[in-house]
Amino acid sequence: MNTKTTVITNEQLAGQFAFCDKIAAYWHEKNVTPTAYVETYGCQQNEADSEKLRGYLTQGGYAIVGEAEGADVVVMNTCAIREHAEQRVFGNLGALTHTKRRHPGQKIFLCGCMAGETKVSERIKHSYPHVDGVFSTHHLWQFPEILWNVLSKAKRQFYVEDEAGSIAEGIPQVRDSQLKTWVSIMYGCNNFCTYCIVPYVRGRERSRKKEDILAECRTLLENGAKEITLLGQNVNSYGKDLEGGVDFADLLAEIAQLPGDFLIRFMTSHPRDASEKLFDTMAKYPKIAKQLHLPFQSGSSRVLKAMNRHYDRETYLKKVNYAKSVMPDLVLTSDVIVGFPGETEEEFEETISLIQQVHYDSLFTFIFSPRTGTPAAAMADPTPKEEKNRRFDKLCAVQNAISEEIHNAYVGKAQRCLVDGQDKDMLTARTEGGRLVRFEGDPALIGTYQMITITGSTTWSLTGELKGN
Ligand code: SAH
Ligand code: SF4
Ligand code: F3S
Repeated sequence: MNTKTTVITNEQLAGQFAFCDKIAAYWHEKNVTPTAYVETYGCQQNEADSEKLRGYLTQGGYAIVGEAEGADVVVMNTCAIREHAEQRVFGNLGALTHTKRRHPGQKIFLCGCMAGETKVSERIKHSYPHVDGVFSTHHLWQFPEILWNVLSKAKRQFYVEDEAGSIAEGIPQVRDSQLKTWVSIMYGCNNFCTYCIVPYVRGRERSRKKEDILAECRTLLENGAKEITLLGQNVNSYGKDLEGGVDFADLLAEIAQLPGDFLIRFMTSHPRDASEKLFDTMAKYPKIAKQLHLPFQSGSSRVLKAMNRHYDRETYLKKVNYAKSVMPDLVLTSDVIVGFPGETEEEFEETISLIQQVHYDSLFTFIFSPRTGTPAAAMADPTPKEEKNRRFDKLCAVQNAISEEIHNAYVGKAQRCLVDGQDKDMLTARTEGGRLVRFEGDPALIGTYQMITITGSTTWSLTGELKGN
């Protein structure tokens, strides 16, 4: 595996913009405004990448549309985290043979994390001839070149060589929202948790320069952003590869001192690197949301070791207790995997007891899914599927009861919320802790902070009444 980060130069990026110009001229000559559809699977990293794909497409003259039918370009930005995610993509990719039959000029691309797996790119090469181009996350910055090659050479393009990964500043972005925005602060992951495919498909950890991140945040705030979510697979190791000794807490503190009325969120924190300095910084600045997503994965120290997580149950609990002690209103969420190879009934019960001890606001729960090439995929896994399903159901029931209890406790309290959208005849808003609130109100309130009194609750969301701002 190549381990050296490449910084994409301004000249290289200018080369890509030149391809955008060629593409725009190609369509202009035909007197056509082409359309493009980008479908995103997976996590916020992919959402952020799709904003760049749309940015490039817009620069190449494409109008962005909301469905594959009739679009001149379709890009599937995929996720490889679990088997199920991949099956969905293959299913939807198969269905595109029909949209392409109805619109033969359609060009279809597959990118994102699945494109970084050799078994996937080979399968597409041989069994999905209607796909015109495949490129891994390392090659996203070259999308205009790939698209131009497809348009001009009538030859399928595969940009899938394994690389350590790159940092490219200045790719145009068409953002989903000007209000709630993503800012990637780093890319890749070095942790190699034994179940996880991310380090293989997204390359080594690499941090963007602090100045570039701050400049992006400033621009977003000037354009009306009210929420900035900092993204990375393990934001706590931000800066380790940079000179100048800046760490994630320092970066947070600097962003929190930018002018404006806004909230900062971030994900994901790896418990190993989550420091007291980080929690103190969160507690100190009002602009940092008192919300923490701190995946624990398992409540058993033996399983955590087998997962290569580099912390044990006790260390995790100590960190959570410290965070709660400095932020009494902290909203805590987490990820957990059930049925890791060799997980015993007792070890599973340790996960249940950890959930009960910590009292998470909500959890993302997963059944272990073996990923080819990861160490866990080769571990003995004698637990039958039915038993894993039983554990999964039990875990969900325990967590749902906790979420319900926590949500119930909001009733009667006033919360400062960002009104962020509309769902049927209700408005939607988010509390500082990221909980969803539905309430009746004037759509003109979207984009403002309002005090909302919580009047009702379910396992998943809250309802409320407008109190004013
Ligand atoms: N970087 C983040 C996680 C990104 S993946 C972190 O380390 O916290 C999101 C979640 O998917 C993980 O936290 C894990 O719970 C789950 N996950 C990853 N690989 C998985 C696999 N092979 N099977 C089941 N769940 C998995
Ligand atoms: Fe995967 Fe672990 Fe990296 Fe998270 S920290 S992306 S779970 S390898
Ligand atoms: Fe999926 Fe890639 Fe994110 S595998 S979870 S889209 S980093």
